[in-house]
Amino acid sequence: MRTPRAPPPRPALLLLLLLLGGSHGLFPEEPPPLSVAPRDYLNHYPVFVGSGPGHLTPAEGTDDLNIQRVLRVNRTLFIGDRDNLYRVELEPPTSMELRYQRKLTWRSNPSDINVCRMKGKQEGECRNFVKVLLLRDESTLFVCGSNAFNPVCANYSVSHRSSKP
Ligand SMILES: *[C@@H]1O[C@H](CO)[C@@H](O)[C@H](O)[C@H]1NC(C)=O
Ligand SMILES: *[C@@H]1O[C@H](CO)[C@@H](O)[C@H](O)[C@H]1NC(C)=O
Repeated sequence: MRTPRAPPPRPALLLLLLLLGGSHGLFPEEPPPLSVAPRDYLNHYPVFVGSGPGHLTPAEGTDDLNIQRVLRVNRTLFIGDRDNLYRVELEPPTSMELRYQRKLTWRSNPSDINVCRMKGKQEGECRNFVKVLLLRDESTLFVCGSNAFNPVCANYSVSHRSSKP
């Protein structure tokens, strides 16, 4: 899937709703895209299709991207996907394809998936959709995921990229 352009995120609003909604609050409905670029136009720009270093195509069995949020910090893109957070450096511009330097997999908690399924949700709805991506300070990224309709937030160290939720 070619989705280099996401609609502008509105993290402050989402965060507010998240806080008001408590731990069991549901995420609001997604607004439709503000604009959709035609494929001919996109062909002139590098795209991110989910490949990492050393892979010509996304690894076998890899899901299609389901990009939820994109945060640009100087020349670094943080891409919040479904169950994954990618870090993509915009420099140097090497080819027509952007590749991630770092991929962090963060799935829904298994017990939250069970509750989600018991409530009659589809398996695909019980995944962890990254809905909030904010820079807290120079070295910390604040990330929230839907976690099977039981939102969870975490601080990640951007400089070392090693902390876990
Ligand atoms: C982004 O670039 C500015 C200007 O060079 C710098 O002051 C700032 O620390 C950078 N931000 C991060 C998060 O690295
Ligand atoms: C993230 O860090 C901030 C500031 O240190 C803290 O107030 C907040 O509770 C942390 N959030 C999580 C989810 O750990």
